[in-house]
Amino acid sequence: IKNDKIFDSLELMKQAKIPKEFIWPENEQPNTLEKLNAPVIDLTGFFQGDKASTKLAADLINNACQSHGFFQVINHGVNASLAEEALSCMNAFFKLPLNHKLKARRTPGSMWGYAGAHADRFSSRLPWKETLSFGYQEHDDHTEHIVVDYFISTLGDEFKHMGFVYQKYCEAMKKLSLGIMELLAISLGVEKSYYKDFFRDSNSIMRCNYYPPCKEPDLTLGTGPHCDPTSLTILQQDHVGGLQVFADGKWRCIPPVPNALVINIGDTFMALSNGKYKSCLHRAVVNRECERRSLAFFLCPRDDRVVRPPADIEGPRKYPDFTWSELWEFTQRHYRADMKTLHSFS
Ligand code: SIN
Ligand code: FE2
Repeated sequence: IKNDKIFDSLELMKQAKIPKEFIWPENEQPNTLEKLNAPVIDLTGFFQGDKASTKLAADLINNACQSHGFFQVINHGVNASLAEEALSCMNAFFKLPLNHKLKARRTPGSMWGYAGAHADRFSSRLPWKETLSFGYQEHDDHTEHIVVDYFISTLGDEFKHMGFVYQKYCEAMKKLSLGIMELLAISLGVEKSYYKDFFRDSNSIMRCNYYPPCKEPDLTLGTGPHCDPTSLTILQQDHVGGLQVFADGKWRCIPPVPNALVINIGDTFMALSNGKYKSCLHRAVVNRECERRSLAFFLCPRDDRVVRPPADIEGPRKYPDFTWSELWEFTQRHYRADMKTLHSFS
């Protein structure tokens, strides 16, 4: 593993002074700490079918998504101990010796696997993190454990339990994301199942982010500025905090709220709402003393569905028709960290 990019960058991260490869341009280094107004929405009433609380939730969502596309949910139906275990069991993977982690190594162009701190599509700078990503697909008719199988086949039998945890966690994320699709439809005045239908049996992506402590956190970034190309992201961040969003001309933070999940609109949903709901630039900063962990579930549309807003959303079409794989491919080749990826897509 000598001469290996991941090996080199992990070694560099251990040096006393932060190496130049990780130092981001001054205008992109973390500085502010104003809070983003990302409302915390209680989903209890919505799940019980209560009209008044559903309307309240939909109004809060409408407001947040028109301004920046970020909101938080509590009482979201995801079992608290499952959520906690999904965060804590990440350590069992990330603390492994590098040659074991590399068994799951991500190959270029793939969305699955382990990636160390090396240049990614977001930037020419190195992000201060390691990630493990894998796919999830549900099956109505039979139980197939795609996530469990992935962990066993890439990392070995001792990762079976971890595979089960993430299998269950992905199931819970998928269920919640379909509920949110319904709320998004209500909030836009669109037929309730319009959006949900794009995601039945679709492939989703799960990503575990591990950010080691950094001696000079002000000079680097854990995740560089980017917009999510997917439809919807459900993020669970640990108690450390570090997520920031660029809104109203400033970087603003979303401090962790116990038991809350952060939801954000991605480019594909921006297109599905004909630009009414924003997919917004965000990033993650790192910490001097503590490592930070976050889990991101990315909801992607079925590939046999053309992404197109419903006729009831008025105004001229902002974006062309596309399928998820067309957008993904385009994003890989022409990613633009200026929120213009979709605008330049045709
Ligand atoms: C991301 O947006 O890709 C990561 C966000 C986080 O770790 O908070
Ligand atoms: Fe993101």
